[in-house]
Amino acid sequence: MFTHKAVNNRSWVASKETYIHKIFSSIANNYDFLNSLLSFNRDKYWRRFAVSKVEPGAGGQVLDVATGTGALVLELASKIGREGKVIGVDFSKEMLRRAQGKLAKRRCHNMELICAKAEALPFPDDTFDCVSIGFALRNVSEVEQTLREMTRVLKIGGKMLCLEFSRPQHKIFRRIYYFYIFHILPFLGQVISRNKEAYAYLPKSIVEFYSPSALKQVMERVGLGNVIAYPLTLGMATTYVAIKSATPNYCRSKDHTEDNGQVMNCLVCGEN
Ligand SMILES: C[S@@+](CC[C@H](N)C(=O)[O-])C[C@H]1O[C@@H](n2cnc3c(N)ncnc32)[C@H](O)[C@@H]1O
Repeated sequence: MFTHKAVNNRSWVASKETYIHKIFSSIANNYDFLNSLLSFNRDKYWRRFAVSKVEPGAGGQVLDVATGTGALVLELASKIGREGKVIGVDFSKEMLRRAQGKLAKRRCHNMELICAKAEALPFPDDTFDCVSIGFALRNVSEVEQTLREMTRVLKIGGKMLCLEFSRPQHKIFRRIYYFYIFHILPFLGQVISRNKEAYAYLPKSIVEFYSPSALKQVMERVGLGNVIAYPLTLGMATTYVAIKSATPNYCRSKDHTEDNGQVMNCLVCGEN
């Protein structure tokens, strides 16, 4: 099972990438509906809360990594006005197609979608005022490399936003929640999306992911400071906000795209 605690070598990374890519590409059509089901319809509130904690101002340049169907992009775009821009990046063209449909419906002109990997972002250093990732850090094959890349493209003084599922602290609530995500959700997920594997993977990826304090340490290790974690809905999810205080040394010495991954052409918008 490809959770972040499994063995982490090159072939494992490649296998997890293929596995995750296949899962999300296959559930793209049902993703929004099932996401709300998993979160008891709290996901919209969580995204709104998360965005309120970074407050990207008018004219801001924002990047949303592993944007999926663009839910966080739409939330961020409502804050930055016409002069600002939000770019959403994802490696699944099927998810991006869904996002493209939603963006087109709302006639949003301050957004762009690009097909690329989170571990090798196709942007120069210090580009964005805010970089976000929602419900996706659990899924990337290299968590630390993804956070390092997100930090690299963030301007000094810029804000990092991470929204992720977490394990509820309250013992009784946690038991009820685990029963729901391990037994009821996979059943519903299978019936609705006809994809048993995706919804069996999901609860395991949640319980095996970093605790908020461990994730805070990783964020500090990649060069982020002032990391604050806000537990949401009894700890079912956590919003992390951090600031890039300086350019870490690794940013300029490492060629991120050479052997960590490739940038793909985007079928949706035709851009790199
Ligand atoms: C659970 S969805 C989250 C979507 C969205 N951010 C949201 O808030 O609903 C996870 C997304 O991460 C993408 N993803 C997973 N690993 C990735 C990687 N290494 N690079 C780029 N995208 C990735 C998947 O394709 C999927 O669209």
